[in-house]
Amino acid sequence: MQLSDVKIYEYDAVVVGAGLAGLAAAKELAEAGKRVAVVTKLHPLRSHSGAAQGGINAALSADDSTELHEFDTVKGSDYLGDQDAIEFMCSKAPETIRWAERMGAVFSRNEEGKIAVRPFGGQSKPRACYAADRTGLTLLQTIYEQAFRAGIEVFDEWYCADVLYEDGKAKGVAAFNIRTSEPAIFNAKVTMFATGGYGRAYKINSNAHANTGDALSIFARRGLPLEDMEFVQFHPSGLGGSGVLISEAARGEGGRLFNSEGERFMEKYAPNAMELASRDVVSRAIMEEIRQGRGVGPNKDAVYIDLTHLPKETILTKLPELRDLAITFLGQDMLKEPIMIAATAHYSMGGIPVNKRTQVRRAPTEFVEGLYAAGECSCVSVHGANRLGANSVLEALFFGRVSGESMVEDLDKLELIPATKDDAKNMIEQVNWTKTNNGDERVPKLRAELQESMTMDAGVFRTEESLLKQRDKLTEIYNRYKNIRIDDKSTVFNTDLQEAIELKHMIDFSLFIVEGAIARKESRGAHYREDYTKRDDENFLKHTYAKFNGEYSLDIEYGDVVLGKFEPTERKY
Ligand code: FUM
Repeated sequence: MQLSDVKIYEYDAVVVGAGLAGLAAAKELAEAGKRVAVVTKLHPLRSHSGAAQGGINAALSADDSTELHEFDTVKGSDYLGDQDAIEFMCSKAPETIRWAERMGAVFSRNEEGKIAVRPFGGQSKPRACYAADRTGLTLLQTIYEQAFRAGIEVFDEWYCADVLYEDGKAKGVAAFNIRTSEPAIFNAKVTMFATGGYGRAYKINSNAHANTGDALSIFARRGLPLEDMEFVQFHPSGLGGSGVLISEAARGEGGRLFNSEGERFMEKYAPNAMELASRDVVSRAIMEEIRQGRGVGPNKDAVYIDLTHLPKETILTKLPELRDLAITFLGQDMLKEPIMIAATAHYSMGGIPVNKRTQVRRAPTEFVEGLYAAGECSCVSVHGANRLGANSVLEALFFGRVSGESMVEDLDKLELIPATKDDAKNMIEQVNWTKTNNGDERVPKLRAELQESMTMDAGVFRTEESLLKQRDKLTEIYNRYKNIRIDDKSTVFNTDLQEAIELKHMIDFSLFIVEGAIARKESRGAHYREDYTKRDDENFLKHTYAKFNGEYSLDIEYGDVVLGKFEPTERKY
């Protein structure tokens, strides 16, 4: 790849990522008459938002309220969520559903013909609106059509490798065409990232192959901070062995969990909410049963979810995709028998710190001019230490739209900072180094070691000892990466190259997960320290902000949580 081949495209806005958050933002920009380029490494309809199965929360029923939705979200977050952002999102959730519906999203209906709602974990009332068990896909298809109609320009199968950031200002991104290796700069007054989560750092996960946390490491290498990265959500029900998602809707519709002794074990862990306690609680219960030797399956590394008592009609109309997945991956038909599940890495609560307008923070109270982020790659923070199911689709759609509106507002005040070909230098050096480095380490092996060790030592259960071991392992992988070799030297769909670049991202952001977890000597939400089992509000009711301070080490500082009307109390389900 040559600097002289770099093309420079100029737009008002560039949006990286084409899931719900990116497309919602791009649609707002295009509708306001702005020229917007959407750069995405996938076709938009293959974005991971399309894998969201169970629902999107909004207090729609007569006996529900947006305040109750706020309370459940704050409690679910183990009080680490920022209450101003939570209030903003929950109060606008009903309007967000109507907005999506008017765009053409077809939601499932109840007997009265109103949008149906189902129960989800950690919620006082049923409030997950859904489209059978394909909610994310329905919304993604809808918003894709409407964003296109508004005039967005999509650069799909383009890999964004760098953000153009200097002196507290952003001016676009450097990217290359995966089909041809053509390098380019997308120079814009405003730049937004909506690149999704980082679940692929774990061996068993529910995430698409693309969820390699690219933006996080790209930002971190530019000296920008990442927030609350130690909080990684493990969803209770990944299919045994693969981790493919079996939606919480399965428990919402009445699924029951059993161990090898036929015990409905949630009675011990959450006697009131049972299977519908929040995700962190149910995931730990499942993994504890397995650790105690009460797992099922050939390796005793799963538990059962039983839906056989439900009417056949419920499964066929409300959970058809889940039934198909269990038949395809396990040969188990949930109509006839319980199916095997275990906790699976699912969602990244941490990410790029942003305010309620989605502006990126360079320090707890300072912002980068012209740079925005929304959706799972960002940390706004509405999920705090643990996200409630069906709040992520809401967050992506709602804050994606807010991001578009914020950029429209800010665009008129900003000048385009002109880019030159030299701005692609970092990207070109990285690509050329990756293609020509001639060591003897292989990317798939290093990736497998990273994923296995993260699962083992920085997963559902953590201790000082396991985390320090994992820090050493990451440092070893970081050093061995310097000695990689890839075989494919071509310029057309070079997936060897892309996977090597993605692995480097995984190595970099994983350090933030582990260092954040070492420093946080308490248990809160999804971060469970077996050596500090209690939540410690006195010392750790704080957001973590971490930054690279050298080659592969971090500085950590803490920032205030925005508290509000809900006083931190002990969380019980
Ligand atoms: O279980 C699910 O359907 C996942 C939903 C979510 O993560 O919000």
